[in-house]
Amino acid sequence: MDHLNGRTAVITGAASGIGAALAAELASHGMSVVVADIDADGAHHVAGELRARGLPAIGARVDVSDPESVQDLARRSYDEFGSVELLCNNAGVLLFGAIAESSLGDWRWLSSVNVEGMLNCLHAFLQRMRAQQGWRHVMNTASTHAFLPDPRHTALYSATKHAIVGLSLGLRAELAPEGIGVTVLCPGQVATRILDSQRNRSEAFGERASEPFGTGVVPMAIEPGQVARDAVEGVLRDAPIVFSLPEHGREEFRAQVEELWRLTGTALGDHVEA
Ligand SMILES: NC(=O)c1ccc[n+]([C@@H]2O[C@H](COP(=O)([O-])OP(=O)(O)OC[C@H]3O[C@@H](n4cnc5c(N)ncnc54)[C@H](O)[C@@H]3O)[C@@H](O)[C@H]2O)c1
Repeated sequence: MDHLNGRTAVITGAASGIGAALAAELASHGMSVVVADIDADGAHHVAGELRARGLPAIGARVDVSDPESVQDLARRSYDEFGSVELLCNNAGVLLFGAIAESSLGDWRWLSSVNVEGMLNCLHAFLQRMRAQQGWRHVMNTASTHAFLPDPRHTALYSATKHAIVGLSLGLRAELAPEGIGVTVLCPGQVATRILDSQRNRSEAFGERASEPFGTGVVPMAIEPGQVARDAVEGVLRDAPIVFSLPEHGREEFRAQVEELWRLTGTALGDHVEA
C-alpha cells in the first residue's frame, strides 16, 4: 500500500538541496507538498517547478527558529490542503570552527535553527496531526555527524545533530501508541549548498563566522536525489534511522561509530576488541 499517494507533506528547508529533492520525490509519489524555507523566492521557485509538472505544491516562507512563523506555516498548510500526513523537519545549517574560537552567536544560530527549529515545528504541527486518523509520519534530518564530530571542527554542529537523534528516538517511542511513525535521516556528504549556510544567517545571531572550507557545493558527495529516495524508502518501512552516504564515506563513518562504542566499553570497564 502506498501511504503517500493523495496525502500532504510539509518539508522545511525545501528551497535547496536535500529538502528540494525530498519535495520532488514525495510529489512524484502523489503527495501534495508544502515547500517551506526562509528563502521565500527559492521556495516559490521549487514549488512552481513542481506545479509546472502538474504536481500540487505551494511555496511558503518560514523561519523555523521563530515559533510564530512556524505557527503561520501550520495554519497555511492545513488551510490549503486540509491535513498533513508527513512532516519533514529538514531545515538545518552548518558551521565549521573550533569551539574555543566560536562566538555565542554561532552556537545560538546553530541551535536555534537545527534544534529549536525542529521543536517549534513539532509544537506547531503535532497537535493537529495527532487529531487526524490514519497513516502519519515525522521525519527529522540529522546527520552522520550525530555520532561523533569529525576532526575538522564540527563539534557545535555535531552537538545539534546529536540532539536531533535523541529527540527523534524519544518522539518515536512517545508516538508509537498513537500509530504515528518517526524516522531520523542521517545523511553523509551530500552535494548541496550547506557549506554556504550563512547566506541565510540573520544579523540577530551576530557576525558571520569564517568559512575555512569555502562556500562551494559539498565535494565528493552523493546527489540529494539519492538521499531523498533513501529517505522515502525508510519512511515507507517506518525505519527508526536511515543512513544515506557515499560509498567512500562508509568506512570512515563505521570507524567513528566503533570509536564511540570503544569509548563506551572502556568507560564501562568492558573488554572491547580494538
Ligand atoms: N549536505 C550534507 O552533506 C548534509 C549531510 C548531513 C546532513 N545534512 C542536513 O540536511 C539538511 C538540509 O541541508 P542541505 O544539505 O540540503 O543544505 P542546503 O543549504 O542546500 O539547504 C538547507 C535549506 O535550509 C534553509 N534554511 C536555513 N535556515 C532556515 C530557517 N531558519 N528556516 C527555514 N529554512 C532555513 C536554507 O535556506 C536552505 O534552503 C540540514 O538539516 C543539514 O544539516 C546535510
